[in-house]
Amino acid sequence: MTKPNHPFLAACRREQTSFTPVWLMRQAGRYMEEYRKLRAQYGFLELCKRPDLAAEITLTPVQKLGVDAAILFADILLILEPLGVGLEYSKGDGPVIHHPVRSGKDVDALKEFNVESELSFVYDAVKQVTKTLENKVPLIGFAGAPFTLASYLIEGGSSRNYLHTKRLYYTAPEAWKRLMERLAKIVAQYLNCQIAAGAQAVQLFDSWAGCLTPMDYQQFVLPYTKSVIVAIAPGVPVINFSTGTAGLLKHIRAAGGDVIGLDWRINLDEGWASVGDDVGVQGNLDPVVLFASPKEIRNRVADILRQAGGKPGHIFNLGHGVLPETPVDHVIAMVDAVHELSAR
Ligand code: CP3
Repeated sequence: MTKPNHPFLAACRREQTSFTPVWLMRQAGRYMEEYRKLRAQYGFLELCKRPDLAAEITLTPVQKLGVDAAILFADILLILEPLGVGLEYSKGDGPVIHHPVRSGKDVDALKEFNVESELSFVYDAVKQVTKTLENKVPLIGFAGAPFTLASYLIEGGSSRNYLHTKRLYYTAPEAWKRLMERLAKIVAQYLNCQIAAGAQAVQLFDSWAGCLTPMDYQQFVLPYTKSVIVAIAPGVPVINFSTGTAGLLKHIRAAGGDVIGLDWRINLDEGWASVGDDVGVQGNLDPVVLFASPKEIRNRVADILRQAGGKPGHIFNLGHGVLPETPVDHVIAMVDAVHELSAR
């Protein structure tokens, strides 16, 4: 279906659209039979590194769900592999970094690499996707924000208390600074390469920023997120996403971005008021609502749309990614509800 004027990109620029655009984080993934079938044949990293397969996985939800944007199938941790830290996606345990960074010495031992050549498989996937989409639906590129990437590098995987990460910035602030500067530089280059290959917007995932105190976010995180955002090719919308950051929104906003991600722990209208009217917002349905009946899903969608009040600059999304057990027909019901109830 041709979507004139790309409602998604128009909403990123806070222009009036004839309906509220919607896409979902993790719209390509395990809740889809098509993905599970491919995944039975290939390892996760293999799928990411095969541009033909990554492109196919990216496109399936666009066709099946009728969303207003595609998001590249890839992972935020791919850029950590060329640093030489030993990235592995182990069954059941999530991602593992075999040689975590715990000291200034470890930071300095991270390998130098060429972001353009070492991650060319990502840009090749972008090229394939945009060629197939023929500019009918925009493609979102993405990267992890420096803090969330640092947390995986330092903890060696997912974490509950971020003890090693926080300890590094408290006890070795110079090492922390070197690491964050390095990550910010790589992330900005990586996003600009995705843009050069055809991505029309980018999202920075700072998924775990919600573990931070406001003061630590300002001192140890904000400057680096900001340096990524100011380095992005001019005119390309940036979505600054995080979760659990209702108490940090002022600072998240200060880090930058055309659109600020909101999760379900704050009402959309209150979140929008916190970040300000001069910026767009994305969100914020609880992913677990998709396990309710289609009727209840519709009610919850209506409530969020009511809070957005038809103001330009709202992009409908979940507050975090689609969960693996989510029924696909409920996702479709949600997308349809957003389109129907927001038509203006
Ligand atoms: O949104 C999309 O559909 C695009 C693809 C995408 C993936 N990961 C695919 C993926 C995106 C945008 C991501 C981002 C990502 N990766 C984040 C930020 C968003 C978030 O969820 O907070 C984070 C923290 C990661 C790191 C990561 N990758 C984890 C923690 C895991 C394991 C847990 C999990 O959700 O599976 C992954 C693996 C991963 N990334 C899978 C997919 C489809 C599952 C891999 C498999 O098939 O086994």
